Amino acid sequence: METMGTMRRTHYSVEVTPELIGQEVIVAGHIAKNRDLGAVVFCDVRDTQGIIQINFNDECPRDVFEKAKSLRSEYVVMAKGVVARRESVNKDIPTGEIEILVKELKVLSEAETTPFEIKDGVNVNDELKLKYRYLDLRRPQVHDGLIFRHKVVKIVRDYYDAHNFIEIETPILCKSTPEGARDYVVPSRVQPNKFYALPQSPQLYKQLLMLSGYDRYFQIARCFRDEDLRADRQPEFTQIDLEMAYVSQDDIMTINEGLMKKVFKEVMNVDIRTPFPRMTWKDAMNNYGSDKPDTRFDMKLCDISECVKNTEFSVFKNAIDRGGSVRCIVAKNLADKLTRKEIDKLTDVVKTYGAKGLAYTRITAENTTSSYEKFLTEEEIAAVRAKCGAETNDVILVVASEKNKVVWAALGALRLHIAKKFGLYDADRYNFLWVTEFPLFDWSEEENRYVAEHHPFTMPMEEDLDKVESDPGVCRAQAYDMVLNGIELGGGSIRISNPEIQKKMFKVLGFTEERMTNNFGFLIDAYKYGAPPHGGMAYGLDRLIMLMAKKDSIRDVIAFPKVQTASELMTGCPSYIEQTQLDELYLDLIEKK
Ligand code: AMO
Repeated sequence: METMGTMRRTHYSVEVTPELIGQEVIVAGHIAKNRDLGAVVFCDVRDTQGIIQINFNDECPRDVFEKAKSLRSEYVVMAKGVVARRESVNKDIPTGEIEILVKELKVLSEAETTPFEIKDGVNVNDELKLKYRYLDLRRPQVHDGLIFRHKVVKIVRDYYDAHNFIEIETPILCKSTPEGARDYVVPSRVQPNKFYALPQSPQLYKQLLMLSGYDRYFQIARCFRDEDLRADRQPEFTQIDLEMAYVSQDDIMTINEGLMKKVFKEVMNVDIRTPFPRMTWKDAMNNYGSDKPDTRFDMKLCDISECVKNTEFSVFKNAIDRGGSVRCIVAKNLADKLTRKEIDKLTDVVKTYGAKGLAYTRITAENTTSSYEKFLTEEEIAAVRAKCGAETNDVILVVASEKNKVVWAALGALRLHIAKKFGLYDADRYNFLWVTEFPLFDWSEEENRYVAEHHPFTMPMEEDLDKVESDPGVCRAQAYDMVLNGIELGGGSIRISNPEIQKKMFKVLGFTEERMTNNFGFLIDAYKYGAPPHGGMAYGLDRLIMLMAKKDSIRDVIAFPKVQTASELMTGCPSYIEQTQLDELYLDLIEKK
């Protein structure tokens, strides 16, 4: 192995253009591919910007040529030579017209055979890739993903800066507060038996910054939540977080629509139309069964309770009588594809959302078959068909439940499932949407109390202020989510800046005066010293990049992601710690039963 000595890179691969033909350059990187043809050796050198071919031919000094013959994949080299036009052009790479005729070569590091080939499109088990993530990160696609992410972050920073926002860092070691997801906690050594929590978001700090007179704050903020992982959820993730004073909900939306427009234009040259459409939460649930509707395709939910309200069919009757509903979606022109067997598979989908079953009517040119034909009258069946507008070759898919939440969730998921399976939308479209007028509270069956739908600092809508204590279930919040193609990209709200309203909120959430003071006393006090009205929002940066880069999981756009068990496979964390560390923290471990 050699050192660089005085040799230094003069160009990145992609900077070596045909204009430089005849000139001497020095490039450096990993060997991506080597071909020894006997009298000539070709290698592809991969650097952070791309790939370039280096050529060792009969004009190459003999000692250099011998060294070239010993090169293997992933060796790290620095090569000096003259830029020349290639004999056979490679149209697939930007440097495909040229090559470097090498005169001098330094082998800076050798490499053992890697556990998998460093190449896009090779079939490698995910766990292996993540165990050797530093190798996986060398793959051009993963590499490009991180560069893409960097570009987006830079535009975000410049955009907010141009709009008078300042970036302020907030603590990572915080106070654990109830409400929200489960905290990751960190024991304190200097204060035995006490714990910090890692921030689920900078929420309280950014609100307090508004009280401190910093009008417009933003931060690319790392957040931590101990929740079950999904394709769009990681235990630690990054938010684009912002807060603004003296603004309304509309002002916050407008500034953030501008950000999305700029990011999509500058990174992808995609024109996004603003303002984004808006939809109330109620309409989103009733029409799409979801508070984050994918509006790239139609297939809206239809409430058919009215058509079957007098039925003797107990599944429908009980659902309606007990305060729920009977709703359906129409799978248009899919009767030939949605056979009995396929519908059985769809039943499994709705069951995972708590529905007891999936009723259907299949309308073909030959006949109409229905799973409930024995139970409903002909008039009722006709009324259902008329209400949802089903025609020949359509399938009506029906879910009934005494809980509207179950009907919405089941049909909302079924709608997405069918659309994905049968390719009912244009994958190149970007449909942005604001969902507004969220409920202020959600009733938790588990805890038998109201919980905050967003967080406890969300301002109720003016019209509902007088009902916060008397009828919490009907109150709506000044909260909004930004949705892109059926994924919640971000969310925010106008905050409560009146300590009396804040106290009422905590009361409805079941806080005693003492618990309120212990957990949030500092916040309630802070609002007594002059609080400008304010609001803000936060986007999931990882989700934004995932959608822009058309990836299936946020794991693909995070440099060192965690897997389902919240482990990071490369370093092997979480891991046990030394007994001395436990002793210092006054911690005893008990065995998991
Ligand atoms: P919220 O909890 O809605 O709001 O989070 C904002 C956005 O963060 C992203 N997100 C996640 N991304 C990856 N993994 C996760 N586990 C995860 N959880 C959330 C989502 C989500 O829309 N402080 C408030 C915002 C505010 O009111 O200003 C907040 O954190 O894209």
